[in-house]
Amino acid sequence: MTPKVIAIDGHSSTGKSSLSKKVALALGFIHVDTGAMYRAVAWYALDKNLLSSEGELLVDKLVESLDDINLKFELNPNSGNREIHLNGQNIEGEIRSMEVANLVSTVAKIPEIREHLVKLQRQMANEVGIVMDGRDIGSVVFPDAPVKIFLTASAKVRAQRRYDELRSNGVEITFDEVEENINSRDAIDTQRSASPLVKAEDAVEVNNDHMNQEETLQTVLKIIKEKGM
Ligand code: DC
Repeated sequence: MTPKVIAIDGHSSTGKSSLSKKVALALGFIHVDTGAMYRAVAWYALDKNLLSSEGELLVDKLVESLDDINLKFELNPNSGNREIHLNGQNIEGEIRSMEVANLVSTVAKIPEIREHLVKLQRQMANEVGIVMDGRDIGSVVFPDAPVKIFLTASAKVRAQRRYDELRSNGVEITFDEVEENINSRDAIDTQRSASPLVKAEDAVEVNNDHMNQEETLQTVLKIIKEKGM
């Protein structure tokens, strides 16, 4: 059976998650932010100090811990968002820190961690329908998804959006630091050997350099409608 899945992949800071949330709301589907799952595992590694004295991630220790990491998305009735919980603790805020951002690409490179999370993601397919966003949803997690979107924008535009967002949340950071983080994440995401970020052959590419959030949403909803979903 074809899974009722809309796969939204693309570069970091293209607005994938907020877009996916709105698409899910418009269709009455459930939104799954898979980046939050990789971030949660990175947060766990920091929280449990699974780092060498040089600050290198202790990969074997983290892989051994996978069965002790229970991840769940729970609806926050106040915001209407589904937030990530690790072993019962809501860590939706914690996973957005720069420390997590700096470690997460390393965590997402580890094949055992990808396999584990992909398995969980496949189990989330349901009757209602899901909008799942990430890097490998259309290429690996659900290669048979009936709709695949590949969202992109130039690195400068993405860095500016991320910088504005962090500053408005009171984070002290320079534009250059944000741009460097975006460029290094792009490099790791596209060059890693395990499921690198690639546009699935049958994905529709949407470049939102010159679109605001509403225009991006309308463009994507039109594509979904054209695909008969
Ligand atoms: O979308 P995001 O910035 O929250 O993703 C965090 C990191 O996780 C990013 O480095 C890419 C990685 N990721 C991945 O490799 N595969 C996914 N399906 C989702 C995220």
